Amino acid sequence: MKIIIANDHAAVGLKFQVMDYLRELGHDVINLGTDSEESCHYPEYGEKAARAVAAGEADCGILICGTGAGISIAANKVKGIRAAVCSDPATARLVKEHNNANILAFGARIVGTELAKDIVKAYLEAEFLGGKHQTRIDMIHEIESRQR
Ligand code: RB5
Repeated sequence: MKIIIANDHAAVGLKFQVMDYLRELGHDVINLGTDSEESCHYPEYGEKAARAVAAGEADCGILICGTGAGISIAANKVKGIRAAVCSDPATARLVKEHNNANILAFGARIVGTELAKDIVKAYLEAEFLGGKHQTRIDMIHEIESRQR
């Protein structure tokens, strides 16, 4: 799979660990995050990664900031993006199965390295179930298309 990863200054270390893990699993990784721990602004990286995922430049994205919240909120402003913050593998599986999340997010100040790897693995191995879940996703995107 081709996977875009991005992060802010709070998540540089975890980002590199997750990148190594993704490559061990055989994935291609595109790093659009900051590699510096100097304070920066997570919306910039959330938007950049989300636009690339929405444009089909990768199969999915992974976003990491301090909590996973800010960067995913920014990403969700991009049309077609369904970014979900997950702090456990069960939620990570379900956001793919039910919500077909095209971006997984988590917080470097919330989860440790091993838990982050388990979250990533659960998300990547899960498959969207379709059916009634697709109907609900269509409803979400109808909300998006009604925005001015
Ligand atoms: C940066 O200090 C922090 O606010 C950011 O990484 C993130 O947690 C925001 O949601």
